[in-house]
Amino acid sequence: MKYRTIGTNPTTRREVSVLALGAMLFGSVTDEATSFAVLDRYVEAGGNFIDTSDNYAFWTDGGQGGQSEELLGRWRRSRGIADEIVIATKLGARPLAPGTGYVDNPEGLSAKVIREAAERSRERLGLAKVDLLYAHIEDHTVEPRETVEAFGALVAEGTVGLLGVSNHATWRVERARALAAAAGLPGYEVLQYAHTHLRPRADVPDGLFPDGSLGYAGPDLLGYLRAEPGLTLVAYSPLLRGAYTRPDRMPAEFDHPGTPARLAVLRDVARETGATVNQVVLAWQIGGDLPVVPLAGVSSVAQLEENLAAVDLELTPEQRARLDAVH
Ligand SMILES: NC(=O)c1ccc[n+]([C@@H]2O[C@H](COP(=O)([O-])OP(=O)(O)OC[C@H]3O[C@@H](n4cnc5c(N)ncnc54)[C@H](OP(=O)(O)O)[C@@H]3O)[C@@H](O)[C@H]2O)c1
Repeated sequence: MKYRTIGTNPTTRREVSVLALGAMLFGSVTDEATSFAVLDRYVEAGGNFIDTSDNYAFWTDGGQGGQSEELLGRWRRSRGIADEIVIATKLGARPLAPGTGYVDNPEGLSAKVIREAAERSRERLGLAKVDLLYAHIEDHTVEPRETVEAFGALVAEGTVGLLGVSNHATWRVERARALAAAAGLPGYEVLQYAHTHLRPRADVPDGLFPDGSLGYAGPDLLGYLRAEPGLTLVAYSPLLRGAYTRPDRMPAEFDHPGTPARLAVLRDVARETGATVNQVVLAWQIGGDLPVVPLAGVSSVAQLEENLAAVDLELTPEQRARLDAVH
């Protein structure tokens, strides 16, 4: 395994594995035995960066979520895991009532929600401190200052380490970080967005983000990452939920003339290296000049093994240049 540092403050920064593991469907779609086997193998291979959320996976049973955090809590207890594993979680997108969703009825990012939701997550996970806590989605009903101060209070108390943000417009990330800096409070240091090798059209709203594909790391977000040292991008859905191997799963926003060219280069590099396309995507993200940590979900140990092997796949500068250049 290889590692990189997330965060800059010596008291809250962490060394995490360059490949993160998504636990979104653990405890719901993926049964407990399989989830535990995947988690055990990931840790055995040196992995220590696991991702969940207080709302995973509410859509699988019409509830409010929490199964993933609860499973991780049971796994931690049964394995005697202390703080060597970084479990990141999120708040803000838990439905307020069963049978609703985070588009129509999200908990949001008020001071009250931040305090109470973080407490519930710590209980489910069995943690005294959450190493990394994200604001999951935007909340347009709350003043950004309230959100910034509420997150800052949790860090000051020591129940949260690093702060992160997901699926927010870049200008909102910048505004929140500027407010935090002006108030002497910790700001968001980890950015979590959908990011893969294929590039989405920005003009195809995906239903969850009606203003456009806010969930994707677009040119503005990537430019921000390049300009702000100390930030890390955690790239979710890097394998496009399996679409690289199962084209029927390819999301509509990738149906444009740039996609076949990108796929062709990925396949060329896979052939040259003897790797799979999934591994080339992950290796391209891990070894690039921007600080990107791919966050992949798996439903079997076999898929995890394939993804872990990408950590040791070295692309040549020439292969990387071809992957970077294709439009
Ligand atoms: N911040 C956010 O809003 C947000 C949104 C979505 C996800 N996430 C996080 O990101 C994590 C990953 O996202 P994701 O599950 O949407 O996308 P992903 O990692 O791109 O896709 C995971 C799925 O891809 C397939 N897969 C994985 N490895 C494979 C391999 N080696 N060969 C073939 N298929 C493979 C599996 O599908 P099958 O199980 O069907 O085989 C697996 O369930 C989640 O667990 C969650 O923690 C965050």
